[in-house]
Amino acid sequence: MRVLISGAGIAGPSLAWFLAKAGARITTVEKAHALLPHGQSVDIQGSARKVVKKMGLVDEILRFHTTEKGAQFIDSKGRPFAPFPAQKGTLKTFTSEFEILRGDLAAVFYNATKDHPNVDYLFGTTVKEVISNDNEAVKVELSNGKVETYDLLVLSDGQWSKLREKCFPPESVKVVDKDTFAAYWTIPRIASDNDWWNIYAALGRRVVSLRPDPHGTIRVTITRMPLNETHRQEWFTAARGDRRTQEALLRKEFTNAGWQSQRLLDSIATAPDFYFQAMQQIKMSKWSTGRIICLGDTAYAPTPFTGMGTPLAMNGAYVLAGELSKLKDGEHPSKAFDSYETIYRPFVEKTQYIPSYLPWILHPDSAAHRFLLSTVASALSGIVRTPWLANRLAKMVSDASVDEDFPLPEYAAFED
Ligand SMILES: Cc1cc2nc3c(=O)[nH]c(=O)nc-3n(C[C@H](O)[C@H](O)[C@H](O)COP(=O)(O)OP(=O)(O)OC[C@H]3O[C@@H](n4cnc5c(N)ncnc54)[C@H](O)[C@@H]3O)c2cc1C
Ligand SMILES: *[C@@H]1O[C@H](CO)[C@@H](O)[C@H](O)[C@H]1NC(C)=O
Ligand SMILES: *[C@@H]1O[C@H](CO)[C@@H](O)[C@H](O)[C@H]1NC(C)=O
Repeated sequence: MRVLISGAGIAGPSLAWFLAKAGARITTVEKAHALLPHGQSVDIQGSARKVVKKMGLVDEILRFHTTEKGAQFIDSKGRPFAPFPAQKGTLKTFTSEFEILRGDLAAVFYNATKDHPNVDYLFGTTVKEVISNDNEAVKVELSNGKVETYDLLVLSDGQWSKLREKCFPPESVKVVDKDTFAAYWTIPRIASDNDWWNIYAALGRRVVSLRPDPHGTIRVTITRMPLNETHRQEWFTAARGDRRTQEALLRKEFTNAGWQSQRLLDSIATAPDFYFQAMQQIKMSKWSTGRIICLGDTAYAPTPFTGMGTPLAMNGAYVLAGELSKLKDGEHPSKAFDSYETIYRPFVEKTQYIPSYLPWILHPDSAAHRFLLSTVASALSGIVRTPWLANRLAKMVSDASVDEDFPLPEYAAFED
């Protein structure tokens, strides 16, 4: 089986790992000229931990642990309250032992596949055109001018995949806006920084947070919910605009936000990895067409609110590779695509559910609202430090918090 994968983020290289194990021949094209080191902490939770165990990469992932001790809220004078220490075991707190930077995880998967004789990576390369997609094969022209044929093409080039637009009609892709914007960047660490995830809810629906990383720097995340329609359009315009427009808007709206806002804004212009986004989900009516299938954020981006973008991509890669490994010689891949979608879609839909009040609760507008948030956070934090109560609570609220949220099917091709 000859497979072309577009995009070497998280989904692409994890799919390549399992397909190579099943004996397929894989080419991955990646638009960037080198693996992107970008991204903040992601938590490998639930069944995705079983996926990394199957890959034998648990130790690699623990080696790159973000070093975070837990999460705590910060009041307007910079004093911490409501700590949630990182915990082992079943309860999902904010920080887990499988916390790793997105860029480090992408590198772990890339390193684990790049020397496999059946896997090739072509950086600085994209699929320029899909020439045909029929009963026999999928034929593409690459940006390097070569025309190639494959048995299937996997689109794992992220939430804003251009190739998805070319291969699927617009009405089959729904973008669901979550009315929140986020900006991320990395800043130098200073002596007063600590190893907690520090979260500061400024008023006016603005949140600022700082997290440590294992590379001696600090990761900034700023999120904001717009206050009215005019304001919303201003943020959308920035999201579509260039980096300077985005920086200017952040400066305008966070200069007086309190805590360390000024320090963060001062370092924004020199940040190597500035990234700005509107938080939006992708929902497709069907993930495949003929011999082409979408995987990961391309098919079902859930937004960082869920903390599940990475586990969804990894579990999806495992099931897709597993179903493909069951095909008999010459069988059309759409058979595997359909069974993958039948098995996996219910879990995806459950994961994409975000209670409509969640973004709003996390972004207090008034002092009274912030008081409510801090009271709830303190109460929860107290409970979490009482193990028996924490476990009972975990059972009550568990879905994504239990070890096996999505029961992984077993595939003969992946068992040693
Ligand atoms: C730079 C970056 C930073 C991120 N930071 C965070 C974060 O801080 N927190 C979080 O929860 N999630 C973050 N994400 C999203 C997170 O990686 C995904 O939710 C999840 O891991 C699923 O990954 P994916 O492989 O489906 O998509 P992605 O991780 O988005 O990977 C897509 C890959 O495709 C490549 N690509 C794009 N266009 C093309 C093209 N035309 N041809 C070939 N390749 C292409 C991209 O360069 C990228 O390497 C980030 C994604 C990126 C790309
Ligand atoms: C990947 O391999 C490179 C080169 O061998 C190494 O420098 C890097 O630390 C590795 N990264 C990870 C995440 O394993
Ligand atoms: C909308 O919000 C912005 C930002 O706070 C404010 O400047 C503006 O006056 C508001 N407009 C209306 C119509 O309320």
